[in-house]
Amino acid sequence: MTTKGKRKDRVLVFDTTLRDGEQSPGASLDHREKVEIAHQLAQLGVDIIEAGFPIASPGDFRAVHEIAEAVTGPTIAGLARCVEADIARCAEAVMPARKPRIHVFLATSAIHRKFKLRKARAEIIKQAMKSVKQAKSFVNDVEFSPEDASRTEPDFLAQVVEAAIDAGATTINIPDTVGYTMPSEFSHLISYLYESVPNINDAVISVHCHNDLGLGVANSLASLQAGARQVECTINGLGERAGNAALEEVVMTLRTRNDVYGPLWTNIKPERLVPVSRLVSRLTGMSVQRNKAIVGANAFAHSSGVHQDGVIKERSTYEIIDPATVGCQDGSDLVLSKLSGKNGLKQALNKMGISLNAEELAKVYERFVDLADKKKLIYDDDLLLIASEQLSDAVNIYTLECMQVTAGSSTIPTATVKLCKGDEVLQEAACGDGPVDAACKAIDRITNVSGRLTDYTLQAVTVGKDAMGEVSLRVAFDEETISAKAASTDIVEASAKAYLSCVNRLLSDREANGANETATKETP
Ligand code: KIV
Ligand code: ZN
Repeated sequence: MTTKGKRKDRVLVFDTTLRDGEQSPGASLDHREKVEIAHQLAQLGVDIIEAGFPIASPGDFRAVHEIAEAVTGPTIAGLARCVEADIARCAEAVMPARKPRIHVFLATSAIHRKFKLRKARAEIIKQAMKSVKQAKSFVNDVEFSPEDASRTEPDFLAQVVEAAIDAGATTINIPDTVGYTMPSEFSHLISYLYESVPNINDAVISVHCHNDLGLGVANSLASLQAGARQVECTINGLGERAGNAALEEVVMTLRTRNDVYGPLWTNIKPERLVPVSRLVSRLTGMSVQRNKAIVGANAFAHSSGVHQDGVIKERSTYEIIDPATVGCQDGSDLVLSKLSGKNGLKQALNKMGISLNAEELAKVYERFVDLADKKKLIYDDDLLLIASEQLSDAVNIYTLECMQVTAGSSTIPTATVKLCKGDEVLQEAACGDGPVDAACKAIDRITNVSGRLTDYTLQAVTVGKDAMGEVSLRVAFDEETISAKAASTDIVEASAKAYLSCVNRLLSDREANGANETATKETP
């Protein structure tokens, strides 16, 4: 392809996170934060940074001015209404930039003309031209936006666009201000402008799509196919009301579906997308929804067993983008939940350095499924506990089959415990001072040993109301004192398991050393 052809296919990325994005209800940034974000946008490779609306407040003026002074690379734009004072203030703010731009806007739709501006069509054209000329007296690079363009009568829109270009506008931005248009409609509108505005090739055609119907990205992409070559967007899709087209989605769609968008390209460095998204989210305080495309926490997380198995075998079975491409350092995430399969579990254990044989894995999986039924998410610490308990279960004489406990302020705490010893199932019930005491006594009855709890601590291993409780206890038997840990979402069950672990250790020590040996041991 020739250089000219490449240039023709270049899509300029105009980032308005610091202007329209900051208009997101709830998002606000001080001037230092804006400068920090602007530096990162420059690193990301955006072509134009709309740094703010200088007339809006002294803070906005300062931010635009500081960005114009400090951030090199992209063009620095400021927004102004088609009002003399706005344009003069905007010019002052962007002037220190190596590449300054003034972006002027004026509503053109019948609704805005009638109710907001109370102006006739001819007056709108006159005001637009006057303002573009005024902006042009300060800078060469002037953008004009006919606000609410997508709801403007197309023939009138074409007249306004032609007049603005005649007056010197170098970029004409077509905003879908209220997110009302549809992809096919919007691409027809852009094609219509190309067909009916005689001087259209003297300006870059830009689009600015809001997301009120969730179509901001789709509309932007459709317009690029119709010839637009600048796309206005924001990080994380921030913006007025439901936001603007998300930069990361537009850029990654162009890259991922270049079979559809052909030679169109941007200068964005995709590996910067996730870091910039996180920075913007942190500084604006606007959290990114987990399932947000490209940058959401779940964008590369796989939960179902079938999907996890596929991703382990070949990532592309369920991922259309390699997470590393967009700077997601954690890579694909296999989230362990009740839907996960054995392969996902094995991979998670391997990541923690635990490798189990098929039989051990089957047992850990059984316990994992049991736990996953009780908990929404299984954390690494949960797994670690299950796996280490399983590994120590290998020497267990007794295993806990099930237990039932009755307790309360007006009943005597009672526990019924069922243990397995080989093929044998043994059951006993006992009362106690509390449910834990009752469960330990029932275990004593089955195993014919008697221990005394000398130390007992309980702590939550993982987070949330459904967190695993980990019980650490120390049991004094006649001949030795043994410590053990166990975890469960049910703390009485965790206590019974830890106690049984001590009993098992005692019995296997007796077997190994002879019943008369006395020693004090600690289990890990
Ligand atoms: O949505 C809009 O119309 C705007 C203009 C100022 C471009 O933000
Ligand atoms: Zn907007």
